[in-house]
Amino acid sequence: MVTSSAPGKVYLFGEHAVVYGEPAVPCAIERRARVTAERRGDDKLRVNATDLTLDGFTVEYDGDATGTPDVDVAEPLLEEGMGYVNEAVEQARDAADAPDAGFDVTIESAIPLGAGLGSSAAVVIAAIDAATRELGVELDAAEIADRAYRVEYEVQDGQASRADTFCSAMGGAVRVEGDDCRRIEDVPNLPFVVGYDGGSGDTGALVAGVRDLREEYDFAADTVAAIGDVVRRGEQALAAGDLEELGELMDFNHGLLSALGVSSRTLDAMVWAAREGDALGAKLTGAGGGGCIVALDPDDGTETALRYTQGCESVFRAELDTEGVRVEP
Ligand code: MEV
Repeated sequence: MVTSSAPGKVYLFGEHAVVYGEPAVPCAIERRARVTAERRGDDKLRVNATDLTLDGFTVEYDGDATGTPDVDVAEPLLEEGMGYVNEAVEQARDAADAPDAGFDVTIESAIPLGAGLGSSAAVVIAAIDAATRELGVELDAAEIADRAYRVEYEVQDGQASRADTFCSAMGGAVRVEGDDCRRIEDVPNLPFVVGYDGGSGDTGALVAGVRDLREEYDFAADTVAAIGDVVRRGEQALAAGDLEELGELMDFNHGLLSALGVSSRTLDAMVWAAREGDALGAKLTGAGGGGCIVALDPDDGTETALRYTQGCESVFRAELDTEGVRVEP
């Protein structure tokens, strides 16, 4: 039996635009998904998941990747979640050349599902690591990231960047532009505050919405390119350790994401509350539609403001997690 864990993330800059080859800077945060894989005597996959901020559930799959759960998974999110786990196990089988390996898989995650904190990437990364190790194979973090990207690409119908999976595998702040992925060294202390509205967005639908908008309107294509400009300026501010400038650029980034139609009433309300609470800047994080915002604030004004904001269900500080995927004792 092997347990591995991988961190969630916030986007300092660049979600959505990264799908079109613009750079993005996601940062791993100290909220982890833990996945335990134990080899079974048959070729089945049994998944037990708890703490996904939804009710715990258990489903059983046949040994093949297309197997259907033999219990009714009503929540579309849960169904999608099972798709990620199924494909992650397929990647482990492939890496270890063990096509018929069955597993009992247990997922414990402190990262809310579909809320912009990279829950699916963290689960996929940890699942590939745990399942391959259980089969006696040790992959390096770069290969796990690559295999996890293939999982996201598959489950999200070809609409995924490498950003979430690379960040979760490597930890720290990373820069992703197309297939070029690397860690950013010497990152200053980033005082992240996360506000969560208790909801979630449908990543596939939101990415498809931006794609359609970008095809139909020049302004949307220009907006995607403008996000790329903001990210490049953000990289300079990060290198200079200029938190004020980073905050201002986060505000610009949020405005551009709103123009692409991926914000929501509660995300906007939380962003404005954070700004009124004297955050240096605030933006939605991840695909949008609902879920989380991230603000930059070294003081406690943002946390206090968000606690009194209608629609904000929880607030927490998130430290940068410099460690990516790891084996748990
Ligand atoms: C979702 O966490 C981030 C998006 O940019 C999609 C992706 O990069 O795969 C919206």
